Amino acid sequence: MGGRIQSVTTTFAIILVLLGTACDAQLSSTFYDTTCPNALSTIRTTIRTAVSKERRMAASLVRLHFHDCFVQGCDASILLDDSPPTIVSEKGALPNNNSVRGFEVIDQAKAAVEKVCPGVVSCADIVAVAARDASFAVGGPSWVVKLGRRDSTTASITLANSDLPLASDDLNTLISRFSNKGFSAKEMVTLSGAHTIGQARCVTFRNRIYGNTSDIDAGFTSTRQRGCPSLINNDNNKKLSPLDLVTPNSFDNNYFKNLIQKKGLLQSDQVLFSGGSTDSFVSEYSKNPTTFKSDFAAAMIKMGDISPLTGSAGIIRKICSAIN
Ligand code: HEM
Repeated sequence: MGGRIQSVTTTFAIILVLLGTACDAQLSSTFYDTTCPNALSTIRTTIRTAVSKERRMAASLVRLHFHDCFVQGCDASILLDDSPPTIVSEKGALPNNNSVRGFEVIDQAKAAVEKVCPGVVSCADIVAVAARDASFAVGGPSWVVKLGRRDSTTASITLANSDLPLASDDLNTLISRFSNKGFSAKEMVTLSGAHTIGQARCVTFRNRIYGNTSDIDAGFTSTRQRGCPSLINNDNNKKLSPLDLVTPNSFDNNYFKNLIQKKGLLQSDQVLFSGGSTDSFVSEYSKNPTTFKSDFAAAMIKMGDISPLTGSAGIIRKICSAIN
């Protein structure tokens, strides 16, 4: 009896592995080589222009890919606007609202690609390529993006609220949120290294700098308090501070050095180096920028593989914010 259950379980496991491989196999770096050979260079031009106008856009585009992939997979669901009664936009979810950016840059890239090959390249692939090009544009790693994702016809504000991490998360919550998407604790730390670029609003770290400040560097606390008043109102909530105070526009390993000096901006940053199981990863990356960058590239490729729609699933949207 026990043997039979075991063999059924094994068969199931094999089928799951095969299915997983089959889905992955459909993403390929050469997917548009014949159908739209200029897709990648067209996207790159748009992203380079956008980042040279505003360096922060690189950070926003890296984050956009993350917030897309963690919510029902890398399917561009995050780009859909409200369209009652079917679509309730993920843009209104707590981790995204007044926070996620870069939509207009993706729209520009999509418009440019549609001009050269209409109806061929998905918005989900454009988001994935944009994240890679954005990273590279500010000194981060580049990587080979697998392509062939298709776009969803649905969005889920419910999953956006439940699956994306929050600045107030403790270490165990972060580890389990990432493990739910197939990432190890180390990969969670690696990916958090994206906070070496970009900005955060006062509302996301006010509690940390005015609460129990025992795990924060004192000088750092007072600097951060100047940029984020304790008085809670809309204007103050929106005030921006760089996640990495030292080199906010360069993709380097300073984020990890900051954590060791108790200069993490978000609670979710500092918990990665607070006497817990992930301290050793932070130490390693603080000493070795090359390892960080290559691990980051590998983890981003893995992120891009989360539940893509492939084959005849989903659609190729004509514009990224609405279904055709
Ligand atoms: C580990 C859990 C994470 C938490 C709790 C978290 C939370 C946050 C928060 C609260 C902000 C500031 C948003 C705002 O104030 O509007 C932020 C910004 C950012 N996050 Fe994360 N994040 C996490 C992981 C990641 C990952 C995995 C990536 C990408 C691989 C990423 C990339 C970014 C970037 C680049 C910014 C700056 C965006 C900009 O300036 O527009 N984060 N994150």
